[in-house]
Amino acid sequence: MFTKREIISMKDFSQDEIDCILKKAQELEVYARGEKPSDLLSGKIMANLFFEPSTRTRLSFETAMKRLGGEVLNLGSEEASSISKGETLADTVRVISQYCDVLVLRHPKQGAARMAAEYSSVPIINAGDGAGHHPTQTLLDLYTIKRESRLNGISVAIVGDLKYGRTVHSLAYALALYDTRISLVSPEQLRIPDTIKSDLEGMGAEVFETSELSSVINDVDVLYITRIQRERFPDPAEYRKVAGSYRISVDLLNDVKDNLIIMHPLPRVTEIDVEVDSTKYAKYFKQTFYGVPIRMALLTMLMETDDEA
Ligand code: NCD
Repeated sequence: MFTKREIISMKDFSQDEIDCILKKAQELEVYARGEKPSDLLSGKIMANLFFEPSTRTRLSFETAMKRLGGEVLNLGSEEASSISKGETLADTVRVISQYCDVLVLRHPKQGAARMAAEYSSVPIINAGDGAGHHPTQTLLDLYTIKRESRLNGISVAIVGDLKYGRTVHSLAYALALYDTRISLVSPEQLRIPDTIKSDLEGMGAEVFETSELSSVINDVDVLYITRIQRERFPDPAEYRKVAGSYRISVDLLNDVKDNLIIMHPLPRVTEIDVEVDSTKYAKYFKQTFYGVPIRMALLTMLMETDDEA
């Protein structure tokens, strides 16, 4: 189903396809935990091309590949590569795709992954394109919800920077495929782009917008909070107006649902007090682990040979 396919946007996925990836991830969890060795991807090479900072995404892709017996190439810093001589992204991708079986790209420009796919001879995985999309984060978010809560009949609050946050753009599209009520909580200036909102409504999703976290926090099953994306603001003064808009403290959790889960794609800045980490609601560090089996699932599905598919 997935062999040689690009992973660019959650808009390209059906619910059946997502469920299939989540199921595969569960099968691979034992390898993700390092409890059993595997050579499923032995002889395969993944190239990491990251043009923006990354901790979890890059390293969990590497872990996934290495735990399955594969190899990893890293472009390294822009200064150390031919990009510093003026090489275009198209040429870089055209060249590196000849050295690997799959290429993972993070780039500050929205649309970069879609463009790169036109020049690559191997599947491209979008690991974040500016304020665009971040589909592998969404798959691990859905997997976290499935493992720690349930994926249907729930109410989800997505909180923070809904304008520039690529993780929430991808997540909203995916949740719209499931039976979920979505509350979009943001400062007025950081509302979700209109095109996404109308797409969600067109998909039949139940979407509600507010700037008041207190109006929804006690009714939701999943609280997904995000960082205000400082680096995407054209004007630092505009960032300062909204910085620190939402902050989850232990006090705020007094009347929440007993089975609430709190998620965050991380890194957090001031959105969640460290005291919350030891509550039963906090799932954001577990969420980062779930990135490994999810990325294993994607990598194996993309690199399956035809007779295995
Ligand atoms: C996110 C990203 O890069 O979009 N991080 C991640 O991949 N886990 C979220 C962010 O930077 O705020």
